[in-house]
Amino acid sequence: MSEDETWGRTVPDEGRGTVAEPKVVLGVAGGIAAYKACELLRRLTESGHDVHVVPTASALHFVGEATWSALSGHPVATEVWTDVHEVPHVRIGQSADLVVVAPATADLLARAAHGLADDLLTNTLLTARCPVVLAPAMHTEMWEHPATRENVATLRRRGTVVIEPAVGRLTGVDTGKGRLPDPGEIFEVCRRVLARGVTEPDLAGRHVVVSAGGTREPLDPVRYLGNRSSGKQGYALAKTAAARGARVTLIEANTGLADPAGVDVVHVGTAVQLREAVLKAAAEADAVVMAAAVADFRPADYAQGKIKKKDGEEPAPLVLVRNPDILAEISAERAHPGQVVVGFAAETDDVLANGRSKLRRKGCDLLVVNEVGERKTFGSEENEAVVLSADGSETPVPHGPKEALADVVWDQVAARLAG
Ligand code: CTP
Repeated sequence: MSEDETWGRTVPDEGRGTVAEPKVVLGVAGGIAAYKACELLRRLTESGHDVHVVPTASALHFVGEATWSALSGHPVATEVWTDVHEVPHVRIGQSADLVVVAPATADLLARAAHGLADDLLTNTLLTARCPVVLAPAMHTEMWEHPATRENVATLRRRGTVVIEPAVGRLTGVDTGKGRLPDPGEIFEVCRRVLARGVTEPDLAGRHVVVSAGGTREPLDPVRYLGNRSSGKQGYALAKTAAARGARVTLIEANTGLADPAGVDVVHVGTAVQLREAVLKAAAEADAVVMAAAVADFRPADYAQGKIKKKDGEEPAPLVLVRNPDILAEISAERAHPGQVVVGFAAETDDVLANGRSKLRRKGCDLLVVNEVGERKTFGSEENEAVVLSADGSETPVPHGPKEALADVVWDQVAARLAG
C-alpha cells in the first residue's frame, strides 16, 4: 500500500461531504512505558485522528510491530530503508499536523536536541513543521542529569512542547520523577496543542508560575478558615500554558484535583506556605499568575488541641491577624524587570470599579476580574471575566470554558514577554 493511500484519511462530515482527519505521528522510543503508548494511540484514533506510529528499533523490543499496525490501521516502519521510493523519512513529518513522542527516552531527547537523523523517527522530527510534543520517561537520575536538562532546555527554546514527567513508581521498585504521565493526560495536551494549531508555541522556553485553589488557615487540629475556590481556573491556566510550550510550576492549595501532566506541582495548605512557594518559584519565572484565593486573615492563635465548648460559657472571640499580600509583594519586588504579574479578583459588587482600584493597589500588570456569587464561577467548568491591564485596556471574555479564559490571559502575557 502506498503512503498516499495510507496517510490522510477523510471521514464523512454531516451535510458537507468529507473532512480530513488530523494527521498525527506517534513516535515511540525504547522504554518500558512503550506499552502505555498503545492506550494513547487508541484514544487518538477513537477521537478521529489518523495516526501513523513510528517506533524506534528498540521500542519494538517492548511492543511489536503487529500491535502498532493493528491499532493504527497503518503499516509501521522504523528505519528509512522501508519503501524508499516513497521517501517516508521526509513525507511523514512534512504532512503531519502533530508529532507526539511517548515515551521519549533520554537517548531520543539527546538525538532530537542535536538534530541527529539516524532512524525514521528522528528524520521525521527534523522534517516536521507542525507542533511537536515530547513526553519523556526515564529514571530520575537520567532526567536530572545536566546533559538531559540541557537537551530539554534546547528543545523547549526551539518551540518543542516537552511535558514534565510524572512522579511515581518507575520500572523497578524505585519511585521518583520520570514516570510517563497518564496516557489520558498526554492525549489532553495533544488535543490542546492541535486545537491551537500553531507551529511555534508562544510560551516556549518560558517558565511560568500559577497558584490555584484556596488557602486554609487552621484554628485547631480539626478546623480551619477556608474559602470556596475550586482551583479549576488555576488548573486550566497551568494546562494551557504547558500546551503552549511553557515550563509550568503549579502551586496548589487544597483543590483535591489530580496533578496535570507536564506540570511541576507544589502542594501547600496555608497563605504563609503559599507565599513561600510562590516567592521561591517566582525567583526565576517569566510570569506569575495568582489565581489562588488567598485568605486575608488567619487565626492569631492555633490551638494544639481541639477547641471544646464549655457548658454555660460563651465562645471565645476569634482573633485574626493579617496574612501577607503575596500579589502586591511580587508585583513590587519583581525578580527581573520584564517579569509579568497577573492577579485575579473575585467580586460580588461594583465588579469593574473594584477591579480597577485593585489593579492599581496591587501593582500587577493584568487583573482578571469576575463576578462571583452562590451559583457563579465557584466549582463551575465555565467562567466569564474582564481582563484589565495596567496600560488601561480592558478585554471582556464571554462566558465559556475556563480554558478559553486561560488562553486569553496567556495571549496577553505572551505579548508582553515578546514586547
Ligand atoms: N492575593 C494575594 N495575597 C493575599 C490576598 C490576595 O496574593 N493575601 C491575591 C489573589 O491571589 C488574587 C488577588 O490578590 O490574585 C486578589 O485577591 P482578592 O481576594 O480579590 O483581593 P484582596 O486583597 O483580598 O482584596 P479585597 O479585600 O478587596 O477583597
